[in-house]
Amino acid sequence: MTLTASRVSSFRRGRRIRRSPALRRLVRETRLDPAMLVLPIFIDARLDVPAPIASLRGHMRWPVAGAVDVARQAAAAGLGGVLLFGLPEAKDEQGSGAADPRGPVPLALRSIRAQDLGLALIADVCLCEYTAHGHCGLLLPDGAIDNDATLPVLAEAARVYAAAGADVVAPSDMMDGRVEAIRRGLDGGGHGETAILSYAAKYASAFYGPFRDAADCAPQFGDRSGYQLDRANGREALLELDADAAEGADMLMVKPAGPYLDVIAAARARSALPLAAYQVSGEYASLVAASERGWVDLRSAALESLIGIARAGADFIITYFALEAAAWLSEKSR
Ligand code: PBG
Repeated sequence: MTLTASRVSSFRRGRRIRRSPALRRLVRETRLDPAMLVLPIFIDARLDVPAPIASLRGHMRWPVAGAVDVARQAAAAGLGGVLLFGLPEAKDEQGSGAADPRGPVPLALRSIRAQDLGLALIADVCLCEYTAHGHCGLLLPDGAIDNDATLPVLAEAARVYAAAGADVVAPSDMMDGRVEAIRRGLDGGGHGETAILSYAAKYASAFYGPFRDAADCAPQFGDRSGYQLDRANGREALLELDADAAEGADMLMVKPAGPYLDVIAAARARSALPLAAYQVSGEYASLVAASERGWVDLRSAALESLIGIARAGADFIITYFALEAAAWLSEKSR
């Protein structure tokens, strides 16, 4: 039979390559791999046993002695790394616990480092978990942030974490000039090989709510909009990414992830540096809560949220789904 003109369709039949799981898998453009997922963990100096975090189902505040247990779980799941946050014994106006070598993060880093688990060990650098007022920097008498006085404190905290075994320090405070200050501090302290993952484009977001509960770091007055980026601004994020790259950041981050996929895509296009995205606590908690009501399928929705972040251009993703997602990904693909 000869083909007649009328039998040759003029439109594109896109469905031909969506017909079967095998074809869909073959032409898939983006893949998730446990190695690109990083698990945030909270180490609490005041605990002897793990304590569940109500707002982050499945997550715990860990005692220092439990840090290795959770790191082992992360390694067994094939994750790329862990990101450590600390809750100190006591807080003060200066956030001095952040740079205490006997603080929860350095102690946890030392014990995990001793295990040689093959994980990237990333330490968050910020003052908000350590200051009584809950802001990310030191304060002037009038309550305004003292940007430049904060820099040496951050640099000292980063040096302490590097000395304790962090591969990467990740400043999340959004003070201007902190990447340069931390780089100088690390280099001057004999830690020239420690990398900096800068939370370069960190927005003043409503989605940090559960974290502030978990890390006990909600500001006691005011908010963070004087230092974190305005939600409406995309170009301003590029200025921050450029500045942190110029100051010596080895990797850049956009945070939160889901509401800022355009910023992730723009960051990917702009810089050749490795790009991280942080799917924050409120993104996780929203999906978990909806799934608890039976309104979304958690596995499917969580993996969709993660593939979207990867498709936008993130090389790796910090996510509270890391352990679950790694387990889902290792099941036979559906
Ligand atoms: C600040 C910091 C925050 C998060 C990570 N680092 C909170 C904030 O800026 O208020 C939020 C992470 C999350 O919500 O999962 N050190």
